[in-house]
Amino acid sequence: MRLKDLLTQRFSAAMIAAGIPEDCSPMVALSGKPQFGDYQANGAMGAAKRMRANPRDLATQIIDKLNLEGIADKLEIAGPGFINVHLSPSFLSDNLKRINSRSLDKKDKKIVVIDHSSPNLAKEMHVGHLRSTIIGDCLARILEFQGHEVVRQNHMGDWGTQFGMLIAELELHLGDGEQAALALNDLEVFYQQSKKHFDEDTEFADRARDYVVKLQSGDKHCRNLWQKFIDVSVAHNLEIYQKLNVGLLKKHIKPESAYNDDLEPVLQDLVDQGIAVDSDGAKVAFLPELADKNGNPSPMIVQKSGGGFLYSTTDLAALRFRVNKLHANRILYFIDARQSLHMKQVFITGRKAGYAPHSVSLEHHPFGTMMGNDGRPFKTRSGGTVKLADLLTEAVERAEKLVRKKNSDLNESDIKSIAEKVGIGAIKYADLSITRTNDYIFNWDAMLSFEGNTAPYLQYAYTRICSIFRKAGIEQNSLIAAVNIIEAQEKVLALKLLQFNEVIDQVAIDCYPHTLCTYLYELASAFMTFYEHCPVLKSDVSEDIKQSRLQLCALSADTLACGLDLLGIEVMEKM
Ligand code: ARG
Repeated sequence: MRLKDLLTQRFSAAMIAAGIPEDCSPMVALSGKPQFGDYQANGAMGAAKRMRANPRDLATQIIDKLNLEGIADKLEIAGPGFINVHLSPSFLSDNLKRINSRSLDKKDKKIVVIDHSSPNLAKEMHVGHLRSTIIGDCLARILEFQGHEVVRQNHMGDWGTQFGMLIAELELHLGDGEQAALALNDLEVFYQQSKKHFDEDTEFADRARDYVVKLQSGDKHCRNLWQKFIDVSVAHNLEIYQKLNVGLLKKHIKPESAYNDDLEPVLQDLVDQGIAVDSDGAKVAFLPELADKNGNPSPMIVQKSGGGFLYSTTDLAALRFRVNKLHANRILYFIDARQSLHMKQVFITGRKAGYAPHSVSLEHHPFGTMMGNDGRPFKTRSGGTVKLADLLTEAVERAEKLVRKKNSDLNESDIKSIAEKVGIGAIKYADLSITRTNDYIFNWDAMLSFEGNTAPYLQYAYTRICSIFRKAGIEQNSLIAAVNIIEAQEKVLALKLLQFNEVIDQVAIDCYPHTLCTYLYELASAFMTFYEHCPVLKSDVSEDIKQSRLQLCALSADTLACGLDLLGIEVMEKM
């Protein structure tokens, strides 16, 4: 059981025994400072207010009834009625033995659908797609680690008006005898070309419009060209996922086009249920739940007056599919904060239409924007969008320079593989370690620094531990020693190690990966402090203590590697 849950349980029982109403929470929290113990129970103040009692007296009564035998070795009342809990070292060492038992109760196992990455295939992936891709990947890893069944859904944009223009362009190129792969070598250039044709050549523009309609009604020629384009664009995305060490595969792609046949039935159903009504020839769902200041309901168009369907129609079809066919209990959407209104509209309409019963949790987890040094959305020097592929290449190049400077006795292939892990890790960590909903400033030097809350710092801490084991001549995972906590730094480290699962539980609920990053940074720092104060391999350290400390080292390395893996970041033995 999680430490916090255990203490909450014991405190609740004591409060009831002390005559405090059952719905008063003990409010167990981590202590801010070591002198206030390891945990604090702050519920006496709230209860005293309700009962018009003296909070310190109430705290004394709670302690009288409290059973923390074998768990805590000191309790004290501080300030107006905080109860500080000092956990006992032997309790901590006992629990360290069971640190790896984290099985999920069968009844708590959920099917979690995660909508992430979901780029538009018309263009190349750019930096704007990074956040959804990696934050969603982190949550997929965490929920899977907990034992849930995760179904990733890459809701790629492969349908809609832009594709008429793109296939008309591709037709021109292929007509000139060019191969599709070559013509589409640079999707960005290709897109610009076709846009230019579209804007300047009316005949081309008419053809492009005609092709959209033909494509959507299943015309062979158009489908064929479209498929060629999609194949190249998808391959490019899959390559990026691999480079990013993100678990998205081809089988997770469920693009907009996959819902083409569902759109008409969804519309019909919304009309039949009176949820979508006619408005100037279009079909619109008016949502009073999202009314503006003047009480005008928020409109969500589900069919244009010309008959075309929209992004929202597809999302409703996708929602229905995820509930009915994937049997989701929870659906997480990792999409830019700018789409918040869209998501609200989809959720409200989806609930009304009965596509998602209230037992299914629908969650939009928005995120802020990656900014440049100038405080504006991150751009190239000339003001263009930064291709994600280019950004990743630069990260690895910069990391390689650093690695070469830092360690000269690595061989070439080691350097390449370390640079890959450090460069990609740095970009991902810089993003994941910021509160998700905030914007952040992209800064190469900060993210690649070996000091502070960065991936290289954590990866370096891991290599330090590996080198201790190399020096000791022991395999890290062959240890079975018990941990004997003597020094204060050992206790701090042990407590941190035991809190790993609490942190994971938290991130699994609120989907804020920075909590895990902060934890790992604190863990690495606790390890460094421990290592400075508590010699491990010195000749005057007794064999018992040496074994115990090596065990702490091994647990620290495992936890760091596991936590980084949940962020999608790799570790290495040397760097
Ligand atoms: N393709 C969309 C975009 O690039 C994101 C799709 C997100 N997922 C969804 N179910 N709407 O903006």
